Amino acid sequence: MQFQWYPGHMTKARRMMQEDLKLIDVVVELVDARVPYSSKNPDIDVLANGKSRILLLNKYDLADPLQIKEWVDYYEKKGFLVSKVNSKKGTGIREVQDIIRKACEKKIERDRKRGIINRPIRAMIVGIPNVGKSTFINSFAKKACTKTGNKPGVTKGKQWIRLNKTTELLDTPGILWPKFEDQNVGLRLAYIGSIKDELFNVYELCRLLIEYLEKEYPGKIADFYEIEKSDVSEILLERIAERRKLIKSGAEYDLDKAARCLVDDFRAGKLGLFCLERPDDILCQEQGE
Ligand code: G4P
Repeated sequence: MQFQWYPGHMTKARRMMQEDLKLIDVVVELVDARVPYSSKNPDIDVLANGKSRILLLNKYDLADPLQIKEWVDYYEKKGFLVSKVNSKKGTGIREVQDIIRKACEKKIERDRKRGIINRPIRAMIVGIPNVGKSTFINSFAKKACTKTGNKPGVTKGKQWIRLNKTTELLDTPGILWPKFEDQNVGLRLAYIGSIKDELFNVYELCRLLIEYLEKEYPGKIADFYEIEKSDVSEILLERIAERRKLIKSGAEYDLDKAARCLVDDFRAGKLGLFCLERPDDILCQEQGE
């Protein structure tokens, strides 16, 4: 399936992020825990080079816990401090404060030696659209959210959220578009609803999603809908249509509606907890490059 995707103001967004990063001690990058590779824009690695890096696997409430462990390992090996969070519920958010401190230990020590004490750490949240940046910022800032306003030496218009005595957060997240050169990346982002559904055929998307889930998590779909198992996507969709009474005029099963229903249930986490990519596959891909 081919995507029509227009990244719009990519260059401007990159430039803005580059400027913002000059003010920052630590970059807190959010990815979607269901697709920790596809929801990560590799440009951020280049832009944030030399900064302390934290990677948060957000929406872990929707992701496969066993796979999450492997992804934590994968990114730790790449030098990130990694944690999982559920920004919607606020789980794992409190720990982020400690991780930020840990990420900046060297800087704090350097400052201390130069007689600079209690200079707040400045953090910035970055990520592709829909990974949960705004939700995270709200959740993270809830405890001590007082806007400190413009600060001397800070670009006019920048707002900082003072979280506490030790940390400030830039209140606008850095947004970069995903990388779509790899069609699989686009596809996985479509599965989780990060690309507008109007850009593709939901029925075709659903068939591909079923193929993946049946290969990696066989029987989960049938269990949820309480239908007979099959690894053939059309048959599963017919059974879902029958079960949910999704019938077109003429007594035909409405497979488009069944596909819509499955995709929505998947995105809402009703079918179970899944990851749609594995670190091993990405490592193979990286080694083949
Ligand atoms: P963005 O700023 O990075 O673009 O993302 P945003 O915070 O707007 O979040 C995108 C969607 O992801 C929102 O859902 C939000 O509620 C959901 N979300 C964020 N963090 C989590 C999480 O940890 N777990 C789960 N399950 N969902 C999360 P929405 O459907 O667009 O809005 P709403 O209906 O939830 O208000």
